Formats: sequence, C-alpha cells, structure tokens
Amino acid sequence: MGDSYTITDNRTGESVEIPIEEGGISARELRKIDPNVFVYDPSFIQTAACRSEITLVDGDEGILRYRGYPIQDLAEQSSYLEVAYLLVHGELPAREEFEKWVHDVTFHTYVHENVKRFMDGFHYDAHPMGILVSTVAALSTFYPEAKDIGDPDIRMRQVIRLIAKMPTLAAFAHRFSVGLPFVYPDNYLDFSANFLSMMWKIAEPRYETDPVLARALDTLFILHADHEQNCSTTAMRVVGSAHADPYVATAAACAALYGPLHGGANEAVIRMLTQIGSLENVPPFIDEVKEGKARLMGFGHRVYKNYDPRARIIKTTADRVFEVTGKNPLLDIALKLEEIALSDEYFTSRRLYPNVDFYSGMIYQAMGFPINMFPVLFAIPRTAGWVSHWLELLGDPEQKISRPRQLYVGAGERPYVPIGDR
Ligand code: CMC
Repeated sequence: MGDSYTITDNRTGESVEIPIEEGGISARELRKIDPNVFVYDPSFIQTAACRSEITLVDGDEGILRYRGYPIQDLAEQSSYLEVAYLLVHGELPAREEFEKWVHDVTFHTYVHENVKRFMDGFHYDAHPMGILVSTVAALSTFYPEAKDIGDPDIRMRQVIRLIAKMPTLAAFAHRFSVGLPFVYPDNYLDFSANFLSMMWKIAEPRYETDPVLARALDTLFILHADHEQNCSTTAMRVVGSAHADPYVATAAACAALYGPLHGGANEAVIRMLTQIGSLENVPPFIDEVKEGKARLMGFGHRVYKNYDPRARIIKTTADRVFEVTGKNPLLDIALKLEEIALSDEYFTSRRLYPNVDFYSGMIYQAMGFPINMFPVLFAIPRTAGWVSHWLELLGDPEQKISRPRQLYVGAGERPYVPIGDR
C-alpha cells in the first residue's frame, strides 16, 4: 500500500483505495462508492478545486511564491509589470518580450470616451469600488470580441486590456467621487507613476512623482498581484467556468474583493485604529476582541497560520514611505496592537498573525489615498492574478462549469396553500 486512503462503506462493506496525489485525493473516486453521498465542505476549507501552477502559498511556513519565485525576491528586484508577465505567461520575460509587454500594456491604458460618460451617471458620492465593479463589467459591452474565449489571441488581447485599463478606471473612479476632472494616462510614465499621475495631477504639465512613493506603490502591487484560490480568484474561476467573457468575470472578482473580509480589510484596519485612537485604549480593545465583541482586523488568515510574508515586506516599505510622507500617526497604535497580540495566548493559540492588510492601509493613507480607494488599490494588481487563473482554467481539460452540490435540509414535500388560507 502506497500513499493512499482506503475508504470503506460500512453499509455495504465495500472499499475503495484512493491514491493521495500532490497532497489531495480525488473526490471523483469517492463517487465509485456511492455517487449520491457528497463531500460536505462549506467555504471549501478542505477542498482543492483545481491543480494550479501559478502561486504557492505555504501557510504553515509563511511562504509565498509566484511561479516558483519567492515573493521577497520579486518585491526587491522585479516590477509589477514584470510580475504580471510572469503570472500570465509562467516565465520571466526576456528583455525583448518585456519591452513588447510594456509597450502593449501602455498602448491599452486609454478607455473609450463613452466609459467616462457611463461613469458620469453615478451618484456624486458613489464609492469608487462600486464604480469600478460596474465599469469593469461595462467594458464587456465595448469589446464584444471578448466573448470568443476559444481564440488565444483574442484572450490575450483582453488580458492586456484588463491589466492596462484597471489603473485608468481606478483613478477615474476616484476623480469622479471627489468631483475632479479625469486625467488621461501619460504613456511616458511607467505603470505605477502613471497611476499616481492620473490620481493627483491638477494643472501642471507633467505630474512629478516621488520615486520612493512610486516604487513603494509598485512593491505593494507586486505583493497583491496573486494569492492563489482566494475568494475573488475563486469568483473569477467560477464565473469564467460558465464561459462568460473576462470583463464580467473580473467584475465578479472585484465584487468579491469589495467585501470587508477580503479586499475591504485594510479599510477596516484604518477604521479600527482610528476608533482605538490612543495607546491606552489598546489593551481594553484587545480584551474586547478576546471576548468576541470585536475582531482584530488585519490579523488572521484562512491559509497563513504564521506571519504573512507580505506583511514583513510591507513593514519595510512603510518605513521608506513614512520617511517621505512623515509617520502615519496610527502606526504606534498598530505596533502596540501587534506587540500585545503576538504575546497573547488567545492569538498565538489560534495562530493569528498580521496579514498583508495590517500595514498596507497605513501606507496608502500616508500617500494620500482616501480610505474608500483601498479596495480599488487592491483590485489594480490582483487583476494580473485573476486573468492568469482565468487563462489557466480555460486551458485545463479537467475543468467544467462550477456547480457544487448541496445537502438539502429543507422541508419535505408540502401542499401549496392559497394566500387567503395562510
Ligand atoms: N480577530 C479575532 N479573532 C479572530 C480573528 C481576528 N482577526 N480571525 C480569526 N479569529 C478567531 C475566530 O474567532 C476563531 O476563534 P474560535 O476558534 O474561538 O471560534 C478562530 O480565530 C478561527 O477563525 P475563523 O473565522 O474560523 O478563520 P477563517 O479562516 O474563517 O477566517 C479571516 C479568516 C481572514 C476571514 C479572519 O481571520 C478574519 O476575519 N480576519 C480579519 C479580517 C482580515 O484581516 N481579512 C484580510 C485577510 S488577508 C487579505 C486577503 O488575502 O484577502
């Protein structure tokens, strides 16, 4: 007997041996015992829904690698666009490949003028993430060719468009929500500097980006580019499995990211730190968390049961940013929270450590981004991850339309009662 499980149906005495391959057993093999008994796994805690070559997260060891490359090396030496290429294509680009990639992405940064008009229809104080979700979906109507998901060239064109247009839509969403005119992309700037220009430019001929801040933003983009089968990527895959076009699938992923337990967590961290307000209030807040009255936002992760490696890199990035912007006053409260939580049995026994969102919000805030832009700032780089998973899904012969089963626990058959008799 090698690496396998033997499962016996005690009703019949029948057994089936299921090999353990790549750390999993095939649920389809279980069907051989009884196709009407399902694996019950709400929230997919113990379920692998695909075999993926894109990102490795080892939550126990605190390891994160994109296509085999450690996140620390990429954060220090690479750029967001190079990482996006790596995620999409599986290999780091040669110089010429990279130049073409940068050219193609830059070429596609503009959006159709009607997208601006579409945005004009939102309420004056619309949340920029709400605007982003809807506008990304609307792109589907501008590129009807995208429905031809079987054509690799057409697929790649939409991938490039999505990566390229996301910063433009994100910055437009912000400008609209504060009543400022839209700033068109400046294709002489690199990806992150161009985004900062579209965010902050007023009347100057060219927006001068602080190189430290542009690099910090690029690093944050690298750190957020992918994280295997998280909630939004799963949404992308589920919608993509129905062969929907990549714009509406990305809109679904954005919608998932909008949730406070996912991309909204760094916003929640800032609100929490602001509410705590001072160092003296930290211990009573920790007590509230332990009593179950509050949640320590930016702590804990479904997969990481160790310090999130992205959080370590972000802490260093924060130091660099604060040298330029001045220290975010919330930092001391955050450091105190971390210090207490990391030495408290409640958190250590549950293996709750800071995640990527614990510090990222403070950096964004110090750089001048309003809190409602935080999930938008997450969506920009995560687009590279989403489209990579979408491409992988479409090329995977084992994938069919996603359609989980349920255990029905509702009422048995009952006769319909007319409304007047109820
Ligand atoms: N503060 C206090 N207690 C917590 C926290 C927290 N942040 N996170 C988990 N716990 C407790 C939880 O109450 C439970 O305790 P008990 O066993 O006594 O019932 C235990 O730890 C296990 O928690 P869980 O809710 O079963 O864990 P999960 O895997 O379902 O949730 C999580 C993961 C990220 C949703 C959760 O840790 C959380 O809500 N954290 C705060 C929000 C946050 O920072 N989210 C960003 C995640 S990282 C960005 C991303 O990748 O999307």
